[in-house]
Amino acid sequence: MSIDPDTFRAALGRFASGVTILTVLDAEGRDHGMTVSAFCSLSLDPPLVLACIDRSADMHALLLKREHVGITLLAAGQEALSRRFAELESDRFEGLGFSRGEHGVVLFDGALAHLECRVRARHPEGDHTIIVCEVECAEVRQERPLLYYRGGYAQLER
Ligand SMILES: Cc1cc2nc3c(=O)[nH]c(=O)nc-3n(C[C@H](O)[C@H](O)[C@H](O)COP(=O)(O)O)c2cc1C
Repeated sequence: MSIDPDTFRAALGRFASGVTILTVLDAEGRDHGMTVSAFCSLSLDPPLVLACIDRSADMHALLLKREHVGITLLAAGQEALSRRFAELESDRFEGLGFSRGEHGVVLFDGALAHLECRVRARHPEGDHTIIVCEVECAEVRQERPLLYYRGGYAQLER
C-alpha cells in the first residue's frame, strides 16, 4: 500500500532545512538559477554534496549537461531571493548583487556560504534527479541561516 501524497508532504515538511540557490551557465553563457532546499552534505573525502532536482524544472536539462554549479546558502534576510528563484519567470538575475566563481557561476552577495562545484554524478530517482557535486571551493560568512519548514520560511530564535 503506498502512502498518499498529502501524508508524505506533511511528514517530510516537518524536516527543517536550509535554502540554497543553484546556478549554472548555459552553452551561450547565460545564467540560470533555481531555489533548492533538497540539499545536503554527502562526503568529506572527497568533499561531496547532493541536490535533488525536479525533472520538470527548467534547469534540470542543464544540470544533466553542464559541469560547473554554483551553490549559494541563503542567510536569514534572503527570503525574497528564495521566492524570486522559485517563482519569477523573467530575468531572475536582473538588479541583484553577485560575484562569479572561477568557472563563471553566479554566487549571491550577502549569503551564509558559497560553494563552487563540479558535477560528478547524476542519478535519476522517481520524479527527481540526484545531482552529486564535488566542492572545489567554499567561502563562509558570519550570518544566520534562512530555514524552510512546513511549507514556510523560518529563522533561528537565537
Ligand atoms: C523553499 C523552496 C525550496 C525548493 N526546493 C526545491 C528542491 O529541492 N528541488 C527542486 O527541484 N525544486 C525546489 N523548489 C522549487 C523550484 O525552486 C522551482 O520549481 C523552480 O525554480 C521553478 O522554476 P523553473 O521555471 O526554473 O522551473 C523549491 C522552491 C522553494 C520555494
